[in-house]
Amino acid sequence: MSQKKEIPFGRPSITGRERQAVMRVLEGHVLTHGPECAGFEREFAALMGEGAHCVSVSSCMAALHLAYLHLGIGPGDEVIAPALTHVATAHAIEWVGAKPVFVDADPKTGNMPPEAIEAAVTDKTKAIGLVHFVGIPCDMGGIMTVAEKHGLRVVEDCAIAIGSRFKGTHVGLFGDAGTFSFYPVKQLTTGEGGIFVSRYENVAKEVARLRAFGVDRAYSERKIPGFYEVPVLGLNYRMSEMQAALGRVQVARFGELQEKRTKNFAALKGHLEKIEGVRVLDSQSPDTQSSYYCLSAVLEGELADKRNDVVIKLNEDAIGTSIYYPQPVPRMKYYRDKYGYDASRYPVATSVSDASIALPVGPHLDVSDMEIIASALEQKLSEARS
Ligand SMILES: Cc1ncc(COP(=O)(O)O)c(C=O)c1O
Repeated sequence: MSQKKEIPFGRPSITGRERQAVMRVLEGHVLTHGPECAGFEREFAALMGEGAHCVSVSSCMAALHLAYLHLGIGPGDEVIAPALTHVATAHAIEWVGAKPVFVDADPKTGNMPPEAIEAAVTDKTKAIGLVHFVGIPCDMGGIMTVAEKHGLRVVEDCAIAIGSRFKGTHVGLFGDAGTFSFYPVKQLTTGEGGIFVSRYENVAKEVARLRAFGVDRAYSERKIPGFYEVPVLGLNYRMSEMQAALGRVQVARFGELQEKRTKNFAALKGHLEKIEGVRVLDSQSPDTQSSYYCLSAVLEGELADKRNDVVIKLNEDAIGTSIYYPQPVPRMKYYRDKYGYDASRYPVATSVSDASIALPVGPHLDVSDMEIIASALEQKLSEARS
């Protein structure tokens, strides 16, 4: 049997620098509340630019939960959210007791169109919880216009959008809050981890307090060790010093990692454009810069029903794939049981969930791997057609 080259969907890029940084923390005595988290927050803010204020947390879901808590959104409120997203986007809304109102996606980008958002506004709507789908920036001009017109707050779920920009501004800095993920296959990793971002320093300060039990002073600000007051209800969503030390090296390497991702995406898109029956989701405007997290290829026509067979065959050839996202969120059992499900409202999200394949473009791969992926896909599609 011939040995096929393994092409994993994602693989964290960990070098000796990351290992040394984590070891340095472990050789010291400060494993939490320390200088690494503060440094990571400063350095991630510099990567985003434009006066970002950052709060490191334990995951993107934690950052989303904190965003809605901080905004005071709760029972009786509606938040407009995409049907095509990770369940965390909707779960964060549920956890504060509000109701997610799902909106379908644009077929070219996978993002919520501003007009569809506006059509979903009711007198209970308090916020828009948008997602930059696989790093393709939403139309932030159009969405902020809708938000301002109806007095809505905006939470940007940028879990896989590190490096995504709209008209030069990093995503996450348009609305009231931006949230990012450092889960292992993301653009940068801290193992698990996330960051809350805001343009406003006072918002970041308040969220930092909610992240750490709601206490009134950080560890370094306590004159009497162990003594503090608790003015508000908080949680423990802190990141550890080991994670932050790892993240600081990753942030320093972002340019190098992102360059490979960008080249890989362009090469793979170029190959796939020659294959009939495949639609590549991508930015549609020169004003937008994607993070190129992965390449989402939607199978069309007679191929749409063959997605799972094609995935199994690609995986048998050691080509890793994923699905972004496995189901429209309103079709997932929890949401279906709670709110009912009307499939006719989400035709695009349904077609992307049921007929797309997320292909790898990460920095663990080279441009030559893109040719291998494309020709394997072409072969499996032609087998599926016959
Ligand atoms: C859009 C979106 N939001 C949130 C998350 C959850 O991120 P985390 O695992 O850091 O909570 C993901 C994970 O892929 C995601 O894609």
